[in-house]
Amino acid sequence: MKQKGAKKRKFSAPDIIWATPLYEFLRQCNTTRLKKTILDCGAGSSADRHPPLFLFYQYGYKTYGIEIEKMALAHAHRFCKKNDIPLNIIRGDMRRIPFKNELFSFVYSYNAIMFMTKADITVAMSEIHRVLKPHGLCYVNFLSVDDPDRRPFRRTEFTLLLRSKRFSHYKDNEADIYFRNFEILRKEKRLIEKLYDGRKITRVYIDYIAKKKLKKF
Ligand SMILES: C[S@@+](CC[C@H](N)C(=O)[O-])C[C@H]1O[C@@H](n2cnc3c(N)ncnc32)[C@H](O)[C@@H]1O
Repeated sequence: MKQKGAKKRKFSAPDIIWATPLYEFLRQCNTTRLKKTILDCGAGSSADRHPPLFLFYQYGYKTYGIEIEKMALAHAHRFCKKNDIPLNIIRGDMRRIPFKNELFSFVYSYNAIMFMTKADITVAMSEIHRVLKPHGLCYVNFLSVDDPDRRPFRRTEFTLLLRSKRFSHYKDNEADIYFRNFEILRKEKRLIEKLYDGRKITRVYIDYIAKKKLKKF
């Protein structure tokens, strides 16, 4: 059920989120008694998509996002302005999250972390741990080694910023190491066949929902 007080508005774009795994994350966040503060790492959007934070906003969360790429940030800001929704998305890099320790009850990164090198993903995962409150929940998805996309990235502003040449892929249990200071609540491997620009493509993801442990080991 939506939070009391969540504003009813008319949206110019379809009021539907396409990032389906975030619904399960939202469901799990809603079962806790933690304050509804959430951070999205890689929170930008494109011309035809809502920033995913919009889903959490609709459910009464105080939302924050960081996004490294100017264009994706501009699209997100346009959405916020057009619909008068303060999602609080700023320019930022999840390798150095610009927020203090243990600020957020919930942190997620959806379809974003795989753009970085594994060395940088290690740094970003420790940043996510740092800004999460004890017992807070995080959601992160990785690309599986079963995902066939090994193409080199085009040289764009953000791939240059990330010093990254192609997606990082993970074996089934390889990313578990990032969650040693978390309790893994749910892990899911998803194979998706979909049409993209008229072509059939396959994507294979490994998703984690995890709870931050009280102490670091
Ligand atoms: C495929 S888009 C997904 C955007 C959004 N999460 C969504 O699902 O619509 C990946 C985004 O992650 C951002 N990103 C990648 N690495 C980042 C980093 N280190 N810090 C912040 N944003 C990053 C990219 O700029 C890009 O906008």
